[in-house]
Amino acid sequence: MCGIIGYVGPRKVVPVILGGLHKLEYRGYDSAGMAILEKGEVVVVKRRGKLKELEEAVTGIDYTATTGMGHTRWATHGKVEDRNAHPHVDCKGQLAVIHNGIIENYEALRQDLVKRGHVFVSDTDSEVIAHLMEDQVAAGADLLDAARVTALQLDGAFAFLVLGKAFPGRIVAVRKLSPLVLGVGEGEMVLGSDTPALLDYTHRIIPLHDGDVVEINEQGFAFYALDDGARLERAPMMVQWNASAAEKQGFKHFMLKEIHEQPVVIRDTLYSRIDIDTGHVDLQEFQGEAVPKRVSIVAAGTSYHAARVGKYLLEELARIPTDVSFSSEYRYGRPIVQPGTLGIAVTQSGETIDTLAALRLQRSLGAKVVAITNRPESTVARESEISFVTQAGIEIGVAATKSFMAQLIAFYLIALYFGQRNGVLDSDSSVRYASQLSSLSQKCEQVLEYAGMMETIARKFYKVHDMIYVGRGVNYPMALEGALKMKEISYIHAEGYAAGELKHGPIALLDQDVPVVGILPQGPLYEKVYSNLQESIARDSPLVVLGDKKDRRAQAIATDFIPMPTVDELFSPVVCALPLQLLAYYTADAKGLDVDQPRNLAKSVTVE
Ligand code: G6P
Repeated sequence: MCGIIGYVGPRKVVPVILGGLHKLEYRGYDSAGMAILEKGEVVVVKRRGKLKELEEAVTGIDYTATTGMGHTRWATHGKVEDRNAHPHVDCKGQLAVIHNGIIENYEALRQDLVKRGHVFVSDTDSEVIAHLMEDQVAAGADLLDAARVTALQLDGAFAFLVLGKAFPGRIVAVRKLSPLVLGVGEGEMVLGSDTPALLDYTHRIIPLHDGDVVEINEQGFAFYALDDGARLERAPMMVQWNASAAEKQGFKHFMLKEIHEQPVVIRDTLYSRIDIDTGHVDLQEFQGEAVPKRVSIVAAGTSYHAARVGKYLLEELARIPTDVSFSSEYRYGRPIVQPGTLGIAVTQSGETIDTLAALRLQRSLGAKVVAITNRPESTVARESEISFVTQAGIEIGVAATKSFMAQLIAFYLIALYFGQRNGVLDSDSSVRYASQLSSLSQKCEQVLEYAGMMETIARKFYKVHDMIYVGRGVNYPMALEGALKMKEISYIHAEGYAAGELKHGPIALLDQDVPVVGILPQGPLYEKVYSNLQESIARDSPLVVLGDKKDRRAQAIATDFIPMPTVDELFSPVVCALPLQLLAYYTADAKGLDVDQPRNLAKSVTVE
């Protein structure tokens, strides 16, 4: 939901801004812009469209500015047009602002500002910030106070940065709800919506807290409280990520690279948490905690599908009653949290605003809360009592792949851990499950060898308008996830169903133009799913089956058969995830679509 970068230091700032925006473009890519302090003036350049439009607009101009900020937009208020792109300026063009979030009371503020003679040029909520700042500065306020007093007038969620002609070498930023991270370099300071944008300059970071105001200048940084302006102490933390993780490394797209990284992600997430010989799972994160009586999971998007698999695992392996809710529904419902409930927020980014709000509600209702997140420095991680950090590394592709895999592995570990602790799992079954879990990384490597086959299948079907995915039990959420991947990046209408539900309505959609993708692992539900797939063949649907490599019956009925390594049904979601992702990837690629930046989506949704 918009990416923000700001820099003060010795370097020429335009390449710094463009480099940062490249790393943040996954957050929004409707338009991009920058404001720099060039020879004592505020210079603004902004363009609708992808970042390359902005790059072209500044190519060949030798800007010498060393203070500046940039923005990549995901439109909320105001169409995708140059004038609605950020930065926005005050009436005199002497103050510039970039903003991520939504100012909920902007209409009232705007009306009032217009009455007082301010002239607006955009339809955005964000422009009010520049004009409110203008009034403050006209009344004699310094940049810092002007930003703080302005922020106090705003309702909603925001992270904004301001700079001004009268304030050389300075940027002030304010955060309320929307994420913002400060990178503390040697003689240079950089602010960004997300850590990867800072890593070329420093690995020392300070995530801003809600209600933080920070000034950066050539001397360093200083934090203040939004409410009363009191000075705050904030110490930097080190992040280990390396900037090259955010490069494609020879793959055509980030998504493809990230799909191929999954065997390593599985190994990294399991590392030191499981003893294969004894089957013992050791989760330091939960040490000293009682086994919960109930689990209540909140999540959005792909994380929600991982949570649905998680429910199945917690109930199967640990016999803990578990419910799963969309964060956006949970937060506005009247959930009942019984004593002994463990709340789990699953979120790759740790910044999804609905999930953050749902987690806060869980806490306020008395649940102990755990974050399963890929971002230890994120707001959700900071606000949780326990963080289970998945080891997926930086994920750039907007469609989540390897972070989903890491979330699945986290749930296997947590379910096994609780199952062992509460005595549901004896040592034999622990050893068996641990060995299955440990073999998954290698099995996923085998599945990746079928990438070419997935491409061939995708090239057969990429022109269809509708697809249906079916699975049962632990693979029902995988049908949902397979369909979501397909929708997100190929724009094909795809729906996931519990295979047994096909006959209760969706079957009416089936004909020779609607392929069905069936997830058919060996196990107790095999015959049931097999019959459901027969039902779709009888309606002439082409049938793509993910089944055990030795399954001759499935091979006989499938139009296209994807051979999967032999695994226990309980672990089949892990091996099935890859072909489902690859099918979506190659379909989108066959259609010539922008796989890493699908239309209308953003990787991290920090608006409601
Ligand atoms: C956005 C992304 C999805 C993601 C969802 C939840 O909609 O496009 O890929 O699954 O947010 O994100 P989170 O960071 O909370 O897992």
